[in-house]
Amino acid sequence: MLSSFTTTGHLLINVFIFFLTVLTLISALDIAGSPEKITTFDNSNSNSNSNNNNNKNGFSGNDERSPYNTRINVNHLNQPYHERAHPKQFILSGPLMHNNKHVQQKENAEDRQRRYLEGAGAVLNVSSTVIEENQEITVTWDKIVYAGPNDWIGAFAADKNLTLFTSPIKFKFTATGSGLKHHHDAKRKGGGIVTTTTPAPPPQSGTVKFTLVNYRKPIKFLYITGNLQYPQVVAETEVVTYKFPNRPTGIHIAFGHGGTTMLVYWMAGGEPSRPGMKWGLKAGELTNWIDAEYKAKPYSPGDFCDTNLQPAGRQGYLEPAAHMHVTLPDIPYDTRVYYQIGDSAHGWSLETSFLSKPKPDPERPTTLAAFGDMGNVENDGSGQHSWDFNDQGEIPSENTTNLIANDPLSEFVLHIGDISYAVGYLAEWDNFFKMIQPVSSTKAWMTAIGNHEQGYSKSFYPGMDSGGECGVAYNSFFPFASQNPKAPFPERQPWYDFVYGNVHFIIMSTEHDYTPGSTQYKWLEFAFTTVDRSVTPWLVFAGHRPMYVDSAFPGDQQVAKQLQGALEDMLIDNQVDVALWGHFHTYQRTCRLKKGVCSQDGVQHMVIGMAGYEHSPLPPKPASFIAKRDATYWGYLRMNFQNSTFGQLSYISDQDGSVLDNYQMSKEQHTALIARDKKKKMKK
Ligand SMILES: [Fe+2]
Repeated sequence: MLSSFTTTGHLLINVFIFFLTVLTLISALDIAGSPEKITTFDNSNSNSNSNNNNNKNGFSGNDERSPYNTRINVNHLNQPYHERAHPKQFILSGPLMHNNKHVQQKENAEDRQRRYLEGAGAVLNVSSTVIEENQEITVTWDKIVYAGPNDWIGAFAADKNLTLFTSPIKFKFTATGSGLKHHHDAKRKGGGIVTTTTPAPPPQSGTVKFTLVNYRKPIKFLYITGNLQYPQVVAETEVVTYKFPNRPTGIHIAFGHGGTTMLVYWMAGGEPSRPGMKWGLKAGELTNWIDAEYKAKPYSPGDFCDTNLQPAGRQGYLEPAAHMHVTLPDIPYDTRVYYQIGDSAHGWSLETSFLSKPKPDPERPTTLAAFGDMGNVENDGSGQHSWDFNDQGEIPSENTTNLIANDPLSEFVLHIGDISYAVGYLAEWDNFFKMIQPVSSTKAWMTAIGNHEQGYSKSFYPGMDSGGECGVAYNSFFPFASQNPKAPFPERQPWYDFVYGNVHFIIMSTEHDYTPGSTQYKWLEFAFTTVDRSVTPWLVFAGHRPMYVDSAFPGDQQVAKQLQGALEDMLIDNQVDVALWGHFHTYQRTCRLKKGVCSQDGVQHMVIGMAGYEHSPLPPKPASFIAKRDATYWGYLRMNFQNSTFGQLSYISDQDGSVLDNYQMSKEQHTALIARDKKKKMKK
């Protein structure tokens, strides 16, 4: 969730910060990739620390029962990023180098002397200047004369002519104190209160470790001191380059429109030569070849929105990789396809495989993993822009992903909005794709768009929730998920449907007009007419913001009412079996609902925004329509449609794969529908 409503406080702070500072032009740094020779790479998740379950690092969720009080899979510095001036929002006053004229005009003689001393003596070194993807790198600082409590070290896309500033790709503070004070307060039930104090300054020398996924560009680390308005660079490292910056990354599979078409997407730095896919139906025999279509520059800063205030088109911008994809048509149903993607100039992925779509069949069992609001996390404990888990990113997202990777039952993924939570800091999309690749390279990763992909000043629900991305990044990465993938970004229609086994899925965008008369509404009406219950007895509908939700937040209820007014009749009339929603970061299963009342003729609604982001607060008393709710755990919904009449919805804990809720569905009541569609077909 974290909608425009809920983030108001943060956004106001951000806006305040923005207006405090003098905005200057932020230029993205464009560095050409270097030539490579290697021809394979490892797409395994071997550097994940997910098994390091004993690594207590002091993070906790906002719920004292949170399993993350004891189990976290990232290393860290145990710092409350949230309480400090935020490096990813530091930016803004433009040049921060020693010759920053703006700073020079403002500072007094004492400051000037201090800056001189810092600049003169400070040292920042890296353990290696050429790195492999995901290699740990140690950054050592020394002789920082006036180290301050909010000093930090950031990784930046850099070249030799770095003169302008932008947000760090990732960062860590150099002070290790928590900055929090716990007081015992007998009057307060449950224990102590917490106040924020200034952490102790860091030592004048020390080390910090970073692990970098493949951001393709040379990286430079800077040591930053100063305050929010006038941060200063006191030391910088040599430029660190990737040994193989142009290897393929972000492999993800999707179902194509109709038939057995499968789509394979990936990204790579540098200029593609002849990218494509080698494939075959037997392991080790990749005798077929398909050329990839690609976009060398899928987007540029000008494509983004609200660029006067929001990060996507300015301080959060990172030069994108080329986006490649192949379309694999007419492969047999339910068949394992082995493949490698890549380019002879830049390297190939390791051979892996996926299963093609099954033939639509009412008795063919279908199982998938569904969830919303997952996000990404920094494996090395670096800070992110976001506000959850003390700005550490969506910590549970990695457990959820790993569990799905090891779930042999779930054949594909349905991720219904709030995908990476990059929110304008585009390097975080790279983190996300690195995290999901073990799943998304072997199982289709189907999506819906959320407010954190689309929300901007002129979207259907105006706000700043996408950090200026306004759907550009989402539609670049998931073009299959719209009606018009070749249209200019502002015209994209990110809604679609697909059939898998015995289920028909209809996916809407709650971030675009869906009210009667709108383009999307008309399309939804049409999509329902294409459903044939005699082939796909099960019908699943999905969107990001919920039509029903147990939330005390008025904004959620306003949207829910609007969705009910516009679309509930359509869902009821078409006898949708399950409606999936995200946005509210809990698990909620309702009774079958018809116009707010439990009814056997109603629709089963599920809120499944519990894949990674910190929990949303549940009202103390459950709403009348709630059958089960949980804000203790994270995880995903395993949906199993065993045959034409029996289905099961299981809430799977990201901790250990255990089933936290199990709901069985029988569809005897839909036999009339199936008979109707059979008759329709016979008439044709
Ligand atoms: Fe959301």
